[in-house]
Amino acid sequence: MKKRTLLISLILLVSNTWALSEHSLSLIKELHGEPLSEEQINHLDEQLSVLNLRNNNSWCSPQKNELLLLLSELNKPKICLEIGVFLGASLMPIMHTMKHQYSGHVYAIDSWSTNDVLNEVPESDPNYIWWKNLDLKMIKTKFGIMLENYEYTGFTTILHQKSSTCINLVPNEVDFIHFHGNMGKEASLEDAILYLPKVKSNGYILFSDIFCVIDGKHTKMEALWYLLDHCDVVYEIENSNAILLKKR
Ligand SMILES: C[S@@+](CC[C@H](N)C(=O)[O-])C[C@H]1O[C@@H](n2cnc3c(N)ncnc32)[C@H](O)[C@@H]1O
Repeated sequence: MKKRTLLISLILLVSNTWALSEHSLSLIKELHGEPLSEEQINHLDEQLSVLNLRNNNSWCSPQKNELLLLLSELNKPKICLEIGVFLGASLMPIMHTMKHQYSGHVYAIDSWSTNDVLNEVPESDPNYIWWKNLDLKMIKTKFGIMLENYEYTGFTTILHQKSSTCINLVPNEVDFIHFHGNMGKEASLEDAILYLPKVKSNGYILFSDIFCVIDGKHTKMEALWYLLDHCDVVYEIENSNAILLKKR
C-alpha cells in the first residue's frame, strides 16, 4: 500500500469526519438509483478525504466536495463547465474523478479581472475592499500550476475571459455546469440566461452562493428564479446556499 493511501486509511480509521454523510443518501438515490456497495462506499470515502485535504480552507466546502465527488463518480458528466474558477477548488473533485475514472472535458471560465468582479459592487460594500486587494493574476497563475501538478491540463480548456464573451467557445450539450461567477444581479442573471440553453435536458446545474449580499441585497435571486423556471431542485447543501438542479 502506498504511503499516502496508508495515511488516508489511518485518518479514516481514527475519525469518521470525512465519511459520506447521511444527508447524501438522497443524492446517491438520484444519481445511482440503488444503494452503493461496501466497496463503492469505501472508495468514495477515501476519495472524499483526499479532496477535503486538498480543498481545505477553500471556497469548496466538505459538503460541496461530497456533492461534486458523487456527481462525477456516479453520473460521469462528460462535458463540464464552470463559470468562476478562482483557484480551481470546485473543479478539483470533477477533474480528480475524470482523470482516474472516465474521459471527458472541462471548460474553465474566469476573467480573473478585478474590474469584472467589481462591476456591480459599490465601493462602500465590504466585498469591494476584499476583491480590490486580491491579486487575481497570481490566482490564475496558481490555478495553472495546480492543473500542471495534478496532470489535468490534457482535458481542460481555460477560457480566460468574461463569461458573457465566450458563450460561442463552449459546446452545446453540456452535462454539468457550475454557476459560481459574478455576484452582481445583472451579470449573474445574464450568465443564467446565456448558459442554461447549453445544458442538455436532464443535465445537472450547481448554483452557488445563493445568499450572497451586495449593498444589502440578495443579488443572485433573479438568476435563481430564472433557473427554477426551467429546472427541478435535486439537492441542497450549505443551508441551501448552493443548490443542485436538473434541467427539464
Ligand atoms: C467565488 S469565486 C469562484 C470560486 C471557485 N468556484 C471555488 O470554488 O473556489 C468567483 C470567480 O468568478 C470570477 N468572475 C467574476 N465575474 C466574472 C465574469 N463576469 N466573467 C468571468 N469570471 C468572473 C472571479 O474572477 C472569481 O475568480
